[in-house]
Amino acid sequence: MSERKPRVLVTREVFDETLDYLRRHCEVVENQKDVPYAPEALAVALADCEGLMCALTDKVDAELLAHAPQLKAVANIAVGYNNIDVPACTARGVMATNTPGVLDDSTADLAWALMLGTARRITEVERRIRAGEWTGWRLKQWLGIDVHHATLGIVGMGRIGQAIARRALGFDMKVVYHNRKRIAPELERKCNAAYLSLDELLSQSDFVVLQVPYTPDTHHLIGAAQLKKMKPSAILINSTRGGVVDDAALVAALTDGTIRGAGLDVYENEPKLHPDFLKLDNVVLAPHIGSSTEATRKAMAMLAAQNLVDALQGRTPPNLVNPDVRK
Ligand code: GLV
Repeated sequence: MSERKPRVLVTREVFDETLDYLRRHCEVVENQKDVPYAPEALAVALADCEGLMCALTDKVDAELLAHAPQLKAVANIAVGYNNIDVPACTARGVMATNTPGVLDDSTADLAWALMLGTARRITEVERRIRAGEWTGWRLKQWLGIDVHHATLGIVGMGRIGQAIARRALGFDMKVVYHNRKRIAPELERKCNAAYLSLDELLSQSDFVVLQVPYTPDTHHLIGAAQLKKMKPSAILINSTRGGVVDDAALVAALTDGTIRGAGLDVYENEPKLHPDFLKLDNVVLAPHIGSSTEATRKAMAMLAAQNLVDALQGRTPPNLVNPDVRK
């Protein structure tokens, strides 16, 4: 007689190969129609599941966990896991995992796309072309700023921050960074990056790129006071999480010229945007697509599935974020 497979809920649409892999090891409740679960519906669907594969759109908190007595593991399809109450998981003996590593380069590429796009006003001029405003070449037409030889300040020098820094070598940039802890000297050399305090970084950088995880400590890390410390010619890039930036303060800074521009992939209250972002030409807006290439999203989904299966089969998953749970 074959052993009973653990029941897992997959909250959002995933790739066929991800489902095939999961089905080999689990009884899968899928949601290939991709209709997001409301919190109450998620609690009902999870009631008899041992595993949960979820996305950053799902809130996994103590209340949800209380409705899932069989739950053993939560696998987030994301590197950031601010949607999961990790201490609550640990308290209930539930393993929580994320998907680090496989998305570093794609996310770094997107941060660069926002830097270049904002510096050279790509989305603004494209809108102008489409509106029929381009009547011919002019010397002073829609002037941008240079990325090459500028100073790049990276706030949050984990794997993605370092990947962003390494790309700056080809642009002959000066790279400075701020991080909770200084990174190892050999990594500083590899990234050609010098450590600064946050205030020093804000006042010296032409491009400030945010790549810190979102935690209570980084909530509104960049607000009105920090934006005032930036150069009026500087550009802010947020490719990490909404909430790290105070969006209302950023709208004000973009409107009154405190800073030159911003490139954003993430927002407070996604998918709702502060309405004034839509009125501003000096902001490039992307819809949280940092890791969204086919290869990377497939790798993330597969890694999440492997984490889940490992956990449910009694192994320590490679990307366990609450190792204390197993003590
Ligand atoms: C995406 O935002 C992620 O955290 O992976």
